[in-house]
Amino acid sequence: MCGIVGHLGPQNSVETVLEGLKRLEYRGYDSAGVSFVDEHNELCVFKKSGKLENLKRILEGKNLVARSCIGHTRWATHGEVNDTNSHPHSNDKIAMVHNGIIENATTLKRELIEKGIKFHSETDSEVFLALLSDQVSQDVPFKQAIINSFHRITGNSAFVILNSETSEIYAIKRGAPLVCGINETSSEGLVSSDPYALAGMVHKLYFPEDDVLCHLSAANKNLLNFYELDGTKTRRYMSKTPDISATASDKGDYDHFMLKEIHEQPELIRSLTQYYFAGEGESALQDVANLRPERVHISACGTAFYAGLMIKDFLEQYNQIPTVAEIASEFRYKNPLIKSGEMGLFVSQSGETADTLAAQELCTEKGLDTISIVNVEGSTLYRNCNHNLIIRAGVEIGVASTKAFTQQVLTGRLLSYALSGDLNNPERRVALASQFNLLAERVDYLLAQEEKIKAIAKEIYERKGYFYTGRGMYFPIALEGALKLKEIAYVHAEGYASGELKHGPIALIDSEMVNVAIVGPELYDKTVSNIQEIRARKGIILTIGPKGDTDLEEISDFYISLDFSDLGDLGPLYVNVVNQMLAYYIALYKGTDIDKPRNLAKSVTVE
Ligand code: M6R
Repeated sequence: MCGIVGHLGPQNSVETVLEGLKRLEYRGYDSAGVSFVDEHNELCVFKKSGKLENLKRILEGKNLVARSCIGHTRWATHGEVNDTNSHPHSNDKIAMVHNGIIENATTLKRELIEKGIKFHSETDSEVFLALLSDQVSQDVPFKQAIINSFHRITGNSAFVILNSETSEIYAIKRGAPLVCGINETSSEGLVSSDPYALAGMVHKLYFPEDDVLCHLSAANKNLLNFYELDGTKTRRYMSKTPDISATASDKGDYDHFMLKEIHEQPELIRSLTQYYFAGEGESALQDVANLRPERVHISACGTAFYAGLMIKDFLEQYNQIPTVAEIASEFRYKNPLIKSGEMGLFVSQSGETADTLAAQELCTEKGLDTISIVNVEGSTLYRNCNHNLIIRAGVEIGVASTKAFTQQVLTGRLLSYALSGDLNNPERRVALASQFNLLAERVDYLLAQEEKIKAIAKEIYERKGYFYTGRGMYFPIALEGALKLKEIAYVHAEGYASGELKHGPIALIDSEMVNVAIVGPELYDKTVSNIQEIRARKGIILTIGPKGDTDLEEISDFYISLDFSDLGDLGPLYVNVVNQMLAYYIALYKGTDIDKPRNLAKSVTVE
């Protein structure tokens, strides 16, 4: 969603902010803008709808010397995509950018209009500028004016504000991501909605808690101070040495980040295995091993939710813990039956998904222990949970989540292993680590067969629609396969339990429909009968099934054979890599924007 970058320091601020915004492009956006104080102490604002390149074009040839600058990439929520609605919003002295939604914007706007204040955009964000300008016009000191304005708004938001009179930057948030960073050597201070924007630029990161005002100023001894809303200094932040490299944004020899990330999977599986079986991750497993939840509530969104469905199976099968998996946006509003003694488990790549955060907050309020299975260490979810298991997927740039899913499911398997009390059982430990390593080996082998999957994609990419079917642990994989295809190839795809198709959707089957039929070992005969039902209605059958199954191959139009009989419960992850590649190549033939599909954002920080 929206991206924020602010910079203060002797280096050229505008260039630094543009570099930060470039790194945030992967999150999805529709407009970009910057505001800075020039050498004549004038507040300058440039903003443009469309790609960052459009903004850079209007900046070309301008003298952009500045020692403080704020910038923004917008993902429209209130008001259409145009230059005026782009951020920063400004008056002659103040510029501000906003990430999130001001829920009481309409009421506040009415009140401010009655006071004679004029609005220029259709955004909710401008309401904050209006509140702030109103305070400043009444001679309220700047810091207090921000605090007073912040008190008035409801909803989850992060704001970064530039005061042109002092060149100082302020930032504050509630329920939205925000991180500050300091480079002591070059006396630079930065702020962003995503630590990735600051990679390689700072030596230390600071993640403020909600309702903490961050103040970047050359007048501060260490450039950066934090305040409570009563004005007193505070240490309510988490500090951390950055561990993300700026080169993560390099596609290397791959045409797309998605393809690069698919190919990273074998190495990431090996590194996860090493981390949890013979590295620093062991203590994280020990930390959760003694938990004895009566029931587990898994909550997540999109791909992370499908990973949650697989984790639910692990917890029920191996730990006999009753487990409920619920989409976070439903869970948070349904007054769920939860109580202390139970556990909330939250799966997320970003750790910043608004609905997942709200579900976690609800569980905390009701006294549940909360665990995250999360990629971004230091993210809001990571900080808000009592226990964390990180998935170590590295930075995931492609909007379509691939490697994060694999790592989430494996980390969920590790959670189940820890809860089973087997951590000190050498045999179990070796068996599970070997199973992980075998998966890595098989995925390596599969990736070498890419051309075959590409050739099938070429044959089927113009078909009308796609049903992905599977049973048992292969059902969440069918759901995930269909999601991947629709989000990057813009075609209609549905995931179904194999036995469910004849209860309605089979009416859609004709010679233009493809059935990606996943045939795992569970209920083999029944699944084959389901394929026959589709075939009888002239559907195109692409089967992903066991190696050497000539009967199955015969009834399929296309057959991808996999050796997954010895992978046990990790077999679905192996199959999922086929689905990832299939979606990638279908999208490639369709010519879509694979890494930044239309209408999507990498991290959904609004409800
Ligand atoms: O960052 P999170 O894992 O919490 O994100 C959840 C979903 O928004 C995400 O998985 C989304 O469904 C992906 N675009 C799917 O590829």
